[in-house]
Amino acid sequence: MKLVVMKNHEELSKHACELIINKVNSLSSPVLGLATGSTPERLYEMMIDKYNQKVVSFSHVKTFNLDEYVGLSENDTKSYRYYMNHHLFSQVNFTKGQNHIPNGMASHLEQECQRYEQLIADACHIDLQILGLGHNGHIGFNEPGTSFSTRTHVVDLERSTREANARFFESIKEVPTQAITMGIETILQSKQIILLVSGEQKAKALHRLLNGEVSEDFPASVLKRHHDVTIIADEAALQL
Ligand code: F6R
Repeated sequence: MKLVVMKNHEELSKHACELIINKVNSLSSPVLGLATGSTPERLYEMMIDKYNQKVVSFSHVKTFNLDEYVGLSENDTKSYRYYMNHHLFSQVNFTKGQNHIPNGMASHLEQECQRYEQLIADACHIDLQILGLGHNGHIGFNEPGTSFSTRTHVVDLERSTREANARFFESIKEVPTQAITMGIETILQSKQIILLVSGEQKAKALHRLLNGEVSEDFPASVLKRHHDVTIIADEAALQL
């Protein structure tokens, strides 16, 4: 794993944006893996700016998001599909069909997981996957204890993850209890991975990632087994 330390969230986002744009501009049919959450919001704003400045086009790009809540429709403002439409997809030149997110409303969730996994394989896997880091070390919604050999699957969300995400909902009671997430093996099949870590509230998790052992108790630790991972962290995330 390579560690790049940036001064703050703004600089972290700028650096990630440059890496993504270089990837998109250098491949004929790039496949991006995307995350939701607070960390990449500024990155997506910067990607939109670059598109408006005609530095990049997304007409030839496919995207796959890491995860989606079970039971929230794309019109629900708390769904990850809504988040992505709002923060990125509707503001650049993507057309319908280029952007993939698991369907949390599918009547057969297991089949939906298999369908999603197949779509990623059909796209010849992800060229560049963006990840955020959970306080408990989760990546995607792969919570501590998840087997490293998982493919896209349905998960029961931990209380701590639901508490962390309650800030996007009226109350914790409204935070769904399940999600569909790419599995750890699915994520590891990405050709390149960028993990974004920002803020002092992530310092403990980042410290454990950098100094701890590879263990299913701390899912992000599996990234040590991938050949091309860059952690972009800001100074606050390294203050421990
Ligand atoms: C989001 C996702 C999660 C987040 C993680 C960090 O699609 O899969 O793993 O990346 O929970 O979230 P933030 O950026 O809100 O701290």
